[in-house]
Amino acid sequence: MEVGIFATESEVADAAAEHLFAVLAAADNKVLGVATGSTPLPLYQRMRAAHAEGKFSLEDFKAFALDEYVGIDPEHPERYRNVLRTELVGDDKTGLKDENLFTPEGNAPDPAVAADEYDAKIKEHGPIALQILGIGADGHIGFNEPGISLVCRTHTDVLTEQTRKDNMRFFDNDIEKVPAGCVTQGLGTIMDATEVLLIATGANKADAVKELVEGGVSALWPASILQMHPKATVLVDEAAAAKLKLTDFYRGRWEATHK
Ligand code: F6R
Repeated sequence: MEVGIFATESEVADAAAEHLFAVLAAADNKVLGVATGSTPLPLYQRMRAAHAEGKFSLEDFKAFALDEYVGIDPEHPERYRNVLRTELVGDDKTGLKDENLFTPEGNAPDPAVAADEYDAKIKEHGPIALQILGIGADGHIGFNEPGISLVCRTHTDVLTEQTRKDNMRFFDNDIEKVPAGCVTQGLGTIMDATEVLLIATGANKADAVKELVEGGVSALWPASILQMHPKATVLVDEAAAAKLKLTDFYRGRWEATHK
């Protein structure tokens, strides 16, 4: 696992964009894994800016989302398909075509069947060349909450109260309006990606980042499974890195390998 520590959220996003542009330019399989939530938004802004300058395009790429709420109004701006459309789809964004954006069917008659089909679709078009990830304060990636199987595939689940609280800022600050269920890529599905890029910013992520990078691999902190991934890059700001022990080593190694 490579760890990059930066002074500000903006510098994290610059480094994430640089990494993503390099990986996608060299990718054999033109498939990107995308995340939602607040963390990747500055990265998406840089992808749109680079597209506007003619330096980057997802025109030839497929994109697979990590997760989706179950039972959310299809028109709701926080439905993850809608978020990703707003951020990435179209020539005025990153060139990604709507028919090439895949998101789990949270409103399918049977979301569990839809989850299996989604996993099969990722296998069909995969491997995902680069999976972008955020991390929850409780260590979730996708919506794989503590206690989840470390090898599970795409599945339906319920969200923890902590995650619903964390996400209520998108739902009029009313936890009752945050959907209780989700469909999410499983940890096994995420681990199939050729590379993963996890971004974490802010002090409320410091515990999760410590467990992700330096803790034991454990279902208590689902993101810790990424220690078993051969190509995982973790980019954090100082606040999110605050509880890491080996920061001097990570900084030195990053400098040595990114000249
Ligand atoms: C989003 C996702 C989640 C978020 C996590 C952090 O698709 O899968 O794991 O990455 O909840 O959310 P933010 O970035 O809003 O703190």
